[in-house]
Amino acid sequence: MKVLIVYDSVSPNKMTKAVAQTIGEVLGEKGIEADTRYFAEVDKSAIKNYDCAIVGGPTMAFRPSKGIAQFLDSLPKNEFNGKRAAAFDTKVKMAINGDASKGIEKKLKGLGFTIFKPPLEVYVQGLGKNMYQFKDGELEKAKNWAQEAASTLSG
Ligand SMILES: Cc1cc2nc3c(=O)[nH]c(=O)nc-3n(C[C@H](O)[C@H](O)[C@H](O)COP(=O)(O)O)c2cc1C
Repeated sequence: MKVLIVYDSVSPNKMTKAVAQTIGEVLGEKGIEADTRYFAEVDKSAIKNYDCAIVGGPTMAFRPSKGIAQFLDSLPKNEFNGKRAAAFDTKVKMAINGDASKGIEKKLKGLGFTIFKPPLEVYVQGLGKNMYQFKDGELEKAKNWAQEAASTLSG
């Protein structure tokens, strides 16, 4: 079982990157080989060598960030049938909340991936000047999600 974790992260504190790294660490601790990559550094021709993709990005204007959306749109359509995937995102809690993870999940399904787990949604808090920190307990939530993902993938 080889897992590719792909993320975009835009703000200076790189919150989504931290979530991606947390997922990668937990999978590694559970004995699953996991590579964590910024979307622009992914070798697209090598994705087919992985059994599973976990893809995340920050929510921007109620959608996945441009980087991760364009990355997914640029992938070939028929290479991933039968492979497993899941989405994650970061966002602030707003009255109207669009989710990056829903958009990412839809694109993954469109590429032929089978979604093996509902998305991980991680809430951040704005500190001003495009700086963010995790809301209390959110990184813990990410760890738990990754532990469950590891059990599903190794089962
Ligand atoms: C231009 C812009 C638009 C944003 N739009 C949303 C949004 O629609 N919903 C939301 O919950 N958060 C929104 N945010 C907050 C981002 O989700 C937050 O910056 C992100 O989680 C930080 O992750 P990163 O450090 O990985 O970039 C927005 C932030 C920016 C800068």
